[in-house]
Amino acid sequence: MNPLLDRLQPYPFERLRQLFVGVTPNPDYRPISLGIGEPKHPTPQFIKDALTGALDGLSSYPGTAGDPHLRDTFRRWLQTRYGLAVDANTQMLPVNGSREALFAFAQTVIDPGKKPVVVCPNPFYQIYEGAALLAGADAWYAPSDPARNFAVDWDSVPVDVWARTQLLFVCSPGNPTGAVMPLAEWKKLFELSDRFGFVIASDECYSEIYFRDEPPLGGLQAAAKLGRPDFRNLVSFTSLSKRSNVPGMRSGFVAGDSALMKKFLLYRTYHGSAMSPVVQQASIAAWGDEKHVVENRTLYRQKFAEVTPMLAQVLDVQLPDAGFYLWAGVNRPGTNPATLLHRLALGIRAAGVRG
Ligand SMILES: Cc1ncc(COP(=O)(O)O)c(C=O)c1O
Repeated sequence: MNPLLDRLQPYPFERLRQLFVGVTPNPDYRPISLGIGEPKHPTPQFIKDALTGALDGLSSYPGTAGDPHLRDTFRRWLQTRYGLAVDANTQMLPVNGSREALFAFAQTVIDPGKKPVVVCPNPFYQIYEGAALLAGADAWYAPSDPARNFAVDWDSVPVDVWARTQLLFVCSPGNPTGAVMPLAEWKKLFELSDRFGFVIASDECYSEIYFRDEPPLGGLQAAAKLGRPDFRNLVSFTSLSKRSNVPGMRSGFVAGDSALMKKFLLYRTYHGSAMSPVVQQASIAAWGDEKHVVENRTLYRQKFAEVTPMLAQVLDVQLPDAGFYLWAGVNRPGTNPATLLHRLALGIRAAGVRG
């Protein structure tokens, strides 16, 4: 067996399931799952129609690079959303959700022979760690600072760790903190990337759910603003799952440095991770429409505006920049996790939260 598998931790939801063994829920409460970050709004009908209308596509094998129309849809979206000029032929690829892509990208980038390090924010999306470990790298965790709106303390990473770093994961808007990384932080990371030669993987799957007037800054957008139009050593990961309420469809795309994309395409061709032609057609429909995205965001805004002040009475929470999580502090004197969870349940019941 691959010995690196022994380095993986049980996935958090599996650990959560184990913690719940033997726990009988109080029948007075309607259970609200706090376990998994999953969209709860319905999939727009036009996406379902595009999916079922494309079933003839099942009769052919898809190419790994995706249909040119699909890549052109990505190009147009990046132009509208971020004002970017990205080449549809050399700088973007469809992926079956950003999760598999984040994992696969680490396998593409890491050279295991050189004691590699992958730097991750902390707290973080668990895939970063598993991807690093299975690629033969060590993970290094840079803490988020609650005193600075959960900004990641990149300065805490020692120089000898940067010197071994081959890949850095950025998550902006962050899961679970919701923090959006500002341009000055991007500048710092680009300088570090230039100095130490590492690749930046920018995970942006929450980019369309935000609570401020300004939409979150994207990694490629930051690069363009800072005079790096070739996006050297940078790839961004974007997803339809949260934007369009289709986590079950498994659809996203990556865009960035053409040299990295070329290698990534090679890796993906052998890995066999082409997107189904049916999903490609539904994805073209979804990326081409913004109306449903605005409606989806409005729903989240209403829910957060209603719930956050109520929960703030019993929990240390505040409205995040973006994303769909409330990241509660657990440092209030006299509280422990069980008390907090109980308060949370009461708070949610008081708020009458649905889905
Ligand atoms: C931070 C982060 N990145 C990536 C993903 C993966 O999303 P998907 O594979 O559905 O695109 C998730 C899913 O919850 C996430 O929270």
